[in-house]
Amino acid sequence: MGVGIGFGKVILFNEHFVVYGLPAIASAIGAKTTAVVERRPESGVELRDERPETKGYKAEKFAEQKESLDQMLRFMNIDATKSGYAITLAGDLIAASGVGASAASCAAIARAFSQELGLNYSDERINEVAYEGEKGYHGTPSGIDNTAATFGGLIWYKREGSSQMMERMKLRKPVEIVMGNTGLVADTKLVVGGVKERKEEEPEKYARIFKAAEQLAHDARKQLEQFNLEKVGGYMDENHTLLQQIEVSCPELDALVDLARNNGALGAKMTGTGRGGYMVALTPSRDLQRRVANAIEKKGFQALRTTIGV
Ligand code: MEV
Repeated sequence: MGVGIGFGKVILFNEHFVVYGLPAIASAIGAKTTAVVERRPESGVELRDERPETKGYKAEKFAEQKESLDQMLRFMNIDATKSGYAITLAGDLIAASGVGASAASCAAIARAFSQELGLNYSDERINEVAYEGEKGYHGTPSGIDNTAATFGGLIWYKREGSSQMMERMKLRKPVEIVMGNTGLVADTKLVVGGVKERKEEEPEKYARIFKAAEQLAHDARKQLEQFNLEKVGGYMDENHTLLQQIEVSCPELDALVDLARNNGALGAKMTGTGRGGYMVALTPSRDLQRRVANAIEKKGFQALRTTIGV
């Protein structure tokens, strides 16, 4: 039996922009996905998905999940034609849009196969396999999700052509955040494709927005490293505005972002693909975290209380 884990993640700055080579900042969150791989006499691979989910997520992603698994097996040269494998996914990360659920499952599966087959994959290799798996979910992943899912921690990430650059960042101490779940399942391929189309249609407008996003990431990094959380929160608000301008937010996300700000969050933004999924609010201190999470729950939405920079 082989066992593996993948971290859930939150993108703090520059989802979408990262697809085009701009820097982004992401952090692992407390929740994880686990994978267990067991050999079985029958051929083929059976996937048992026992992760908690946002209603409809697994059904919606079923075909992509199969494509992703096939790509990873091919990449790892795993032959299941004579005897096969059973994979069980579980853990406390909710299978939902915006928390890196697909990437966490890819990293966990790669690790579980590496252990079961004695492949001794390094984290770098696990990350490569998880990246192949991510391609099954959407054609042109930037690689930030699988990198955060594999390595954990707080990262500065940039895609440079076909290669990827990651630097670890340090926070003086972990910081509480709240992630609010719209309950809507997002289609990453569609949302990423939409940005590409609009960027081609309105090159000047998009160039302006992208320039602002690039500067913002550098400013945010500096303030995060200096632990100036008020400023970081302000930059998160600005990042949300830029994401609204490229039309990847939605009324449900905007409403949760406003709610968090009105309840004292230092900043709030959508996170991940957008058009559904999660938003994130910066809520240093247990009290503030509780206040914001309670306000979100009072409106009938799920709130995840977790930390960044662990
Ligand atoms: C999805 O979690 C993040 C996106 O930037 C896509 C990607 O980076 O591949 C929207």
